Amino acid sequence: MRNLARLRGFIQSFTRLIEHFGANEERIFVDGKELLSELISQGDWLPDAFAEPNPKRYQQYLLYCDPFERFSVVSFVWGPGQSTPVHDHTVWGMVGVMRGAEFCEEFALEYATARLRSKGTHKLRPAKSI
Ligand SMILES: [Fe+2]
Repeated sequence: MRNLARLRGFIQSFTRLIEHFGANEERIFVDGKELLSELISQGDWLPDAFAEPNPKRYQQYLLYCDPFERFSVVSFVWGPGQSTPVHDHTVWGMVGVMRGAEFCEEFALEYATARLRSKGTHKLRPAKSI
């Protein structure tokens, strides 16, 4: 049995954060980082079914959607070598790596040529080994 109380506690705390500071993205990132770091420092809460890779493409599992759609919690699972298309979230988001590693390449739009220019790649790793 998974420790769903840990996920529930994260969702409750994040909901309170959004209710109090929903217009203050800087505060959301500062406090939200602590909450997310605490959540993903343990691996006992995520059911195995929501950590299963799909052999054909990266997989998304929606774990929670706020009833007012202010935030959601999603488990993204990549198998080795899998990737996403280049994309822009257009809204704020937070990423935490619980297992393995993710390479993230960032781009800038050059308006004069209407082309994307790579700004480099960085590797995201778990804060702690689980
Ligand atoms: Fe993304």
